[in-house]
Amino acid sequence: MPINILAIESSCDETSASVCCDGKILSNVIATQKVHEQYGGVVPELASRAHMQNIIPVVDVALKNANCSLEDIDAIGFTQSPGLIGALLVGTQFAKSMSLALNKPLIQVHHMQAHVVANLIEEPRPSFPFLCLTVSGGHTQIVLVESPLKMKVIGQTIDDAAGEAFDKTAKLIGLPYPGGPLVDKYAKEGNPNAYKFTEPQIPGLDFSFSGLKTSILYFLNNAGVSNVYKEEYKVSPEQRQQFIDENLADICASVQSRIVSILLNKLKKAAKETGINQICIAGGVSANSGLRTSIQKMGVEQRWDVYIPKFEYCTDNAAMIAITAYYKYLTEDFSDLTITPSARAEWGL
Ligand code: KG4
Ligand code: ZN
Repeated sequence: MPINILAIESSCDETSASVCCDGKILSNVIATQKVHEQYGGVVPELASRAHMQNIIPVVDVALKNANCSLEDIDAIGFTQSPGLIGALLVGTQFAKSMSLALNKPLIQVHHMQAHVVANLIEEPRPSFPFLCLTVSGGHTQIVLVESPLKMKVIGQTIDDAAGEAFDKTAKLIGLPYPGGPLVDKYAKEGNPNAYKFTEPQIPGLDFSFSGLKTSILYFLNNAGVSNVYKEEYKVSPEQRQQFIDENLADICASVQSRIVSILLNKLKKAAKETGINQICIAGGVSANSGLRTSIQKMGVEQRWDVYIPKFEYCTDNAAMIAITAYYKYLTEDFSDLTITPSARAEWGL
């Protein structure tokens, strides 16, 4: 008998549901919450409310697109951590209710593990062990993956995530939230070598992005008056705005290029240290065109096999939750109905 899993993702500002049959994705419906744009970031309370509104229609469409009814479902997977607690509660409570009503097993999934497992959804798949650079709005990690459910974090950010570096830069420039895709768009027209931002010297395989954010702030405030980015070189707000308007593409291209080089230099180090040449990327920032091009180029230079999931499996989606839940189903790794979500969760399985 084929195994059908219904999965729910609600950790941040995307309400998503997916059905997979024997590990093959049949549907992946994502409702992005537009309500946050005007606030320049995700407002947790509004996210929870929007999940409440979206979850039933999204699940209905996911079942319909998969040509499935509730009777066909063998287990319910859901994101249990990490994320916004109110947002996670909506998906968790929904999944628990479904499990109770259908009398089918409940499977909790770790959101960051699911981002990594997204690389196993479609051909070509990496062979084990592989390294995954997981870059999202909340996380930046290098993960060593031994099997679908056995992985450990070998490097991570000590402050901001790569997605935050993109979003905070965009905010400083005056672009709306989420700014990452817009920085990417403008960067395509710009010169990545126009401005030089220093690369942080962090030991081992860890990352840091908070210093970059500060140097971008000083750089914009000084509006090209000096190439030393210090707090004291401040120009008027009008001069600052004029500088941004005239140099938007070059600013975006230079910032993007630095974020990408910070990520790839550590990934190169990790590949050297572990001797692994199967390389994957995951998380929302893996949609970045500069990162995609540069990792392919580095892959050729370093003789890596590089795998990049399809765009809809890079940003938050329930297909990655469904596939992870499927692997857990095979090992009968089920949760009971007392399970609660967790905003933060360490992992390394
Ligand atoms: O994985 P994700 O969808 O949600 C989290 O779990 O955080 O990642 C969202 C992040 C945001 O910071 C967004 O700006 C960034 O991914 N992002 C991008 C691009 N598309 C999404 N950053 C740079 N370039 C992009 N094209
Ligand atoms: Zn995510």
